[in-house]
Amino acid sequence: MISEPLQKGVTDMYSMDHAQFDAKDAPETKKKYGVARKNLLIVDDEESIRNLLKRILEKEGYHCIPAADAEEASIFLAEHPVDLVISDIQMPGRSGIQLLEEIRREHPTIGTIIITGNRDKEIADMAISIGAYGYLLKPFQKDQVVVSVKDALRRRMIEIQNRFEVENLEHDIEDKRQNLIRANTRLTLMVNGIIRAMAKAVESRDPYTAGHQQRVADIATVIGARMNFTEERIMYLKMAASIHDIGKISVPAEILSKPGRLSQSEMNIIREHPLTGYEILKEVEFPYPLAEIVYQHHERMDGSGYPNGLTGEQIHLDAKILAVADVLEAMASHRPYRAALGIAIAREEIQKNKGRFYDPDVVDVCCQAIDNGEIAF
Ligand SMILES: [Fe+2]
Repeated sequence: MISEPLQKGVTDMYSMDHAQFDAKDAPETKKKYGVARKNLLIVDDEESIRNLLKRILEKEGYHCIPAADAEEASIFLAEHPVDLVISDIQMPGRSGIQLLEEIRREHPTIGTIIITGNRDKEIADMAISIGAYGYLLKPFQKDQVVVSVKDALRRRMIEIQNRFEVENLEHDIEDKRQNLIRANTRLTLMVNGIIRAMAKAVESRDPYTAGHQQRVADIATVIGARMNFTEERIMYLKMAASIHDIGKISVPAEILSKPGRLSQSEMNIIREHPLTGYEILKEVEFPYPLAEIVYQHHERMDGSGYPNGLTGEQIHLDAKILAVADVLEAMASHRPYRAALGIAIAREEIQKNKGRFYDPDVVDVCCQAIDNGEIAF
């Protein structure tokens, strides 16, 4: 509880000086004091100690507010600006350590000094470890009090400046991060737009397979997701699938749209499209082997594919996914020289050649997706 005379003292002093504090930015105040006076809250249950500290520190130009215990200090701190709290440790009610902890938690910009006797050195060390800037040993030496307060206020100012700079730095970093995210999103949209344009370019010459690449991309995406690929890898797999037949751009349109059987020489021209696709895409710097995957999409596990007759582990997993998605889509859809065979026959084909032409894991995952209704035509 606050004693009546002290309560009056605190209120009177605060009322008087609070006006000064509020007006500290006014030109006449700055002129009078040079700089704003610092507000020091002196918390001690002994009135003589409070008065002694107040006398010493007010002579140095500080504004001192006395408080008789932690409770009174808490109430004052909740509503008024304070620069430094000088608090006794042993007080009736809450201890100085508890007050210190509350200040660190609720008012982290306020500095603290504790008052202690020589016998309480261990408690003083504890107070320092939880954030007090220093301690005053009783009995006080005037110079010791003044130096400790000046030092504490200087350290507080440095801490506030550091915190301000760290906050500014954090804002800067967050701004830059957001800018990077926006730039990356724009870039991804742009790349996807270019991929769509390239896909359209080849499909405009081959209307019978229009939409084929997009459907292969959809199937490959389902397989990639089921194989727990990262979002980024799925995005690139989808890109590769969307333009896997880009090399057909160099195949004459009459061969692409020929309804009957192709001659051997026409087949040979068609078989050049993985290499042409690779040549078109290899100049683009993707963080993913997109050109190689397009190059390998007609390779088969047993080496019977083209253009290089690669086998098993020589073929990139994503190219193996494209191979399965490609054949599944081609068989399940309509072609100029035959009607659509349907998903059941296409499923049978990849199952029959699992391990021979097609990667067994990819076939299993693809069949599970078909059975689960995730791939349908
Ligand atoms: Fe192809």
